[in-house]
Amino acid sequence: MQNQLKEILENAKKNIAEASSKEDIEKIRVEYLGKKGQLTSILKSMGKLSKEERPVVGKVANEVRENIEEMIAKAGTAVKAKEQEMRTKAETLDVTVPGTERKLGAKHPISVTIDEITKIFMSMGFSVADGPEVETVFYNFDALNAPQNHPSRDLTDTFYIEDQEDVLLRTQTSPVQIRTILKEDLPIKIISPGRCFRCDTPDATHSPMFHQVEGLVVDEGITMSDLKGTLDAFVKRLFGPETRTKLRPHHFPFTEPSAEVDVSCFKCGGKGCSVCKGSGWIEILGAGLVHPNVLKVGGIDTEKYSGFAFGMGVERVAMLKYEIDDIRLLYENDMRFIEQFK
Ligand code: DAH
Repeated sequence: MQNQLKEILENAKKNIAEASSKEDIEKIRVEYLGKKGQLTSILKSMGKLSKEERPVVGKVANEVRENIEEMIAKAGTAVKAKEQEMRTKAETLDVTVPGTERKLGAKHPISVTIDEITKIFMSMGFSVADGPEVETVFYNFDALNAPQNHPSRDLTDTFYIEDQEDVLLRTQTSPVQIRTILKEDLPIKIISPGRCFRCDTPDATHSPMFHQVEGLVVDEGITMSDLKGTLDAFVKRLFGPETRTKLRPHHFPFTEPSAEVDVSCFKCGGKGCSVCKGSGWIEILGAGLVHPNVLKVGGIDTEKYSGFAFGMGVERVAMLKYEIDDIRLLYENDMRFIEQFK
């Protein structure tokens, strides 16, 4: 029996030395010291021994048990340390390894342009107003003094919402003028950037969706000189301090008098180049004094108050400033294009 005990101890030693996980060690503990374990069954059979033999074998058996227990405890600590070490190794961050590059996007040139225009007008005391892209005929045409037979009302020019002849995609940001007049107290001094829609087939200069920035000022004693002074200050900030403005008579239903505004070419300074097509001037917006009929929709006393308004195409400004020769480039979502405006 003593030999048997020695053999158990040797086997246990070998098994423990080979154990590499907590689970292995637990298995060994059960195998040797568990209720049905090898050592336990020997201890159980000690009753068969003689009185003399019993204490001798008992002593050896106890020693073997203590020995195994000690080895198991030691192995447990070693395995724990090993596991901890492996975990630390796995979680170690090597700061010298090149990281995974995260691709940074860039602000779209339309947003860059809108932000720039907005910043300039905000510094002149304008606030920003918003309006819906899905509009009614009333705000988009009627209230803006557009005659019933105005060509822009035509189905071929305007996207109407099917089955609702009164609802359309706004063709201009001008409806925000009348919405603001009806909602806000005087004086009014707003700009309104946003999306517009027209039934145009896309080509180098047309897109069925585009952006405008509307401007509206209503106060006592507003004249054309306020309009010219404001636009003059604006274009000098946008295109450079040398920029001059020129107003040409024009017609818009919602302004009287109306003008188209040209700026001296920021590329050639007015001598004539490819950007200004040789004329030295570039048309950038429409403007005028708000028609009394528009102010009257908002119940404004037109004897006391007057206003000016303007509207410009954002794509046109961006294309001029950044010398983009095809409007479609702005909507293709090609990062190689957009990244150039970082
Ligand atoms: N809404 C005009 C257009 O889309 C642009 C415009 C012209 C707006 C004159 C104005 C304005 O406010 O006064 O062509």
